[in-house]
Amino acid sequence: MIDSHCHLDDAYFAAERSAVLDRARQIGVTAFVCVGVGRGTAAAEEAVALAAREPDIFATVGVHPHDAAVTTEAQWAELDRLARAPRVVGVGETGLDYHYEHSPRDVQQLAYRRSIALARATGLPVVSHVRDAHLDAAAILAAEAPAAGGVIHCFTGGVAEARAYLDLGHYLSFSGILTFKNAGNVREAAAFAPLDRILVETDAPYLAPIPHRGGRNEPAFIAETLGTLAGLRGLPAAEIDRATSENTRRVFRLPNAADSAARD
Ligand code: NI
Repeated sequence: MIDSHCHLDDAYFAAERSAVLDRARQIGVTAFVCVGVGRGTAAAEEAVALAAREPDIFATVGVHPHDAAVTTEAQWAELDRLARAPRVVGVGETGLDYHYEHSPRDVQQLAYRRSIALARATGLPVVSHVRDAHLDAAAILAAEAPAAGGVIHCFTGGVAEARAYLDLGHYLSFSGILTFKNAGNVREAAAFAPLDRILVETDAPYLAPIPHRGGRNEPAFIAETLGTLAGLRGLPAAEIDRATSENTRRVFRLPNAADSAARD
């Protein structure tokens, strides 16, 4: 299994991080995409450093839509530099969040466009965070057309929204939300999307799946989401694991894990 989106910052896991990573490795997680956003550029720097130390961790760097209004030119410049560091495999998470609207919508849109421009310049895929803003996000993705494509992380739409992103060439990543009672539309989208276009993620430390809901999420809980996805699609979990791992490696261009065969 691959956790295609988790936050492993010191701020969340600190001294416990190696235990958290080991628990995930023990149940067969072979790679982690560590998303470095927030707190100026500190989280991005941590993600890059972590990826340099751990052979199964890869990093992304970016400006979260929540932080669009507070990101300085100096921080943008630093992110531009970090995006070119070794083992950085994507730009983000960036995007639009009209639910919380911590930054004004027009500022979020500008930051999203700017992030996609960075993705184009570096040849990296874009990791998009979209909440209550699917129409605008799809329009920006269509206009800015990141050449390496990208992932709609923690997808929260239904079939219509899924189709729009798939038509633009993006992948959909499903989180623990799939296990939530009120997420019928997301489950429909997860059953609908082609098998070669879906990913799984924890978004740890957020969004712990049932039965861990309400507590701190961690990459080992990816198994719950993967199992739910397998049930929805009527396929063995091993097949969903194989497909989602391949898809994650394809979109982020991860090297093939030497240990992936050992797990099976
Ligand atoms: Ni996230």
